[in-house]
Amino acid sequence: MCRNLSKYALIFLFLALSGLIFLLRNIHTVENWNCHTVSTLYQLQSRIQSSLVPLNLPTFHHNRTFCAHLGQKPSPEEELEERYLLDFIAWPGPPPHSTPPTLLQTSDPVHSLFAILPTKKGGREWHVGDQLEVLIQMHDFHGRPKRYGGDFLLARLHSPELGAGVAGSVVDHRNGFYSALFPLLWMGPAQVEVKLVHSSEAIAVLRRLREERPDRVFFKSLFRQGFMSETTVCNMCLPSDQQPLCNYTDLYTGEPWYCYKPKRLSCDTRVNHAKGGYLKHLITNKEALLFQSGVNIKVHIQPSGSNKITVLAPKDKVEEESSMKPETFDLAPSGYYYEDSWRPLGQIKIRRFNQSSAVAQCLKNKVINMYGDSTVRQWFEYLIAFVPELKEFNLHSPKNVGPFMAVDSTHNILLRYRCHGPPIRFSTVTSSELRYISNELDGLAGGPNTVVVLSIWAHFSTFPVEVYIRRLRHIRRAVVRLLDRAPGTLVVIRSANLQALDQEVSLYNSDWYSLQINKVLRAMFKGLNIPVVDAWQMSLAHHLPHDLHPPPVIVKNMIDMLLSYVCPEKKKRQK
Ligand SMILES: *[C@@H]1O[C@H](CO)[C@@H](O)[C@H](O)[C@H]1NC(C)=O
Ligand SMILES: *[C@@H]1O[C@H](CO)[C@@H](O)[C@H](O)[C@H]1NC(C)=O
Ligand SMILES: *[C@@H]1O[C@H](CO)[C@@H](O)[C@H](O)[C@H]1NC(C)=O
Repeated sequence: MCRNLSKYALIFLFLALSGLIFLLRNIHTVENWNCHTVSTLYQLQSRIQSSLVPLNLPTFHHNRTFCAHLGQKPSPEEELEERYLLDFIAWPGPPPHSTPPTLLQTSDPVHSLFAILPTKKGGREWHVGDQLEVLIQMHDFHGRPKRYGGDFLLARLHSPELGAGVAGSVVDHRNGFYSALFPLLWMGPAQVEVKLVHSSEAIAVLRRLREERPDRVFFKSLFRQGFMSETTVCNMCLPSDQQPLCNYTDLYTGEPWYCYKPKRLSCDTRVNHAKGGYLKHLITNKEALLFQSGVNIKVHIQPSGSNKITVLAPKDKVEEESSMKPETFDLAPSGYYYEDSWRPLGQIKIRRFNQSSAVAQCLKNKVINMYGDSTVRQWFEYLIAFVPELKEFNLHSPKNVGPFMAVDSTHNILLRYRCHGPPIRFSTVTSSELRYISNELDGLAGGPNTVVVLSIWAHFSTFPVEVYIRRLRHIRRAVVRLLDRAPGTLVVIRSANLQALDQEVSLYNSDWYSLQINKVLRAMFKGLNIPVVDAWQMSLAHHLPHDLHPPPVIVKNMIDMLLSYVCPEKKKRQK
């Protein structure tokens, strides 16, 4: 009995050992038939590696912008456009101080005030169609009026009773005073809300980080060959004076991307791309005081007097004197909420897709390609959750990363999602799935049954704006090529939205970065007649808290906008 047992044990040991040897020798072929086990093995291996071997982080010279000047040299026209765009988004900074301001000298929402100005005729009677003007005066923590501009303010006019809300246009008078302008779009109660997102002094810090610290989010790649694996740091730009680099500059677009070369492996053994982490200690203790939740990040400014008005029925339009348009067109509200439903103000009439059958009917015979960050992945997720026939096809992609695909074979609908290329900050994207949107667009046939949805913003905020401009330039070129060869293709862009901010999030992803990126996005696609779903105003005008991934009610309104572009209301025939 005992001998038998040890015999079996020996045989078992032999089998186990030979199995292991087989596994190790054939690790490449094994991958094909037993993907899961092997990838688990590698995941384990890379986890062990990343936990044991600290990533060798580069030392950047924080005295100039690296990333902006890498990549292909822009043509003279492109340089001209770039200069125009940088001018267009120029933000007033605090005047140069001989000594940097102390916290007490910076903008304090608690000491600041706003007031509703009387109408042009000096009264307090407003009608639908009028413009409401609010004056904001900023003060510092001592209570002294600020003498310069550059604070980042958000303003909203809303009515909880009516589920109504509209974004205000904020005008900086650069002397401590700001105006917020609102079109009056509904009858009944309305109240004003003003928030300081960041003081001008905090914006100066954010701007410096954007120009000088593109390394504050870092990336990594795993390299592997046989049993050997190494992980190194990657980024849009890396100082080349420290270690040899692998150059992954894209052949078609010239978009730069680099990793440090692994010590024992060659550059073509890169198997994935992932977010590495966020650098800490980016700002001094003194600067940190400018980013305090509840003190000077997204804090309400109080009204002097009432913040409420009652809007009366529209007057007869005889004296059409007040122009509804604020100075800059881009400030104008693009829509508003009424009964919690978004009503766009432009050419488009929104349709409501309350039933899944209506969505399926609209998307019938369409191929919908969504490209970008997680905020458009949310749209993919909304659609597959809302339309039961739209079944996700299991591509065995990593969770939250993709690519994803869903099919409704009854209505002949194909829905796809793919993330944008580096600097995507997803957990782990396989090298083979790491693609630039412009290259993907070049691979589309397009046509009247093709819909393309783009969302490119959240992962660019840690880089100088030139990096974003360059990326959009490549995508815009590919969109133009697509529309030229396949007229009738619908391209829709989802803009940036507001998000919840604390000190940490502010330094990497502040709404101020998104605001600037949004302005660039709108300006660069303006002439192309490409609809933009205004996620910014849709999150600003809504009463729910700001969230990087807006809540379902807002996503529903965004999807209604998207589908209204895909399936516009049929025009009634004119008599
Ligand atoms: C930045 O600093 C590094 C090291 O301090 C120096 O070698 C380099 O020349 C500087 N670059 C510029 C553009 O000033
Ligand atoms: C990386 O490759 C691109 C394209 O081949 C080239 O233009 C660029 O100069 C290279 N970068 C470096 C740092 O060598
Ligand atoms: C869709 O739902 C909204 C809000 O519940 C409602 O106001 C609207 O009338 C509905 N529209 C259609 C077409 O069902």
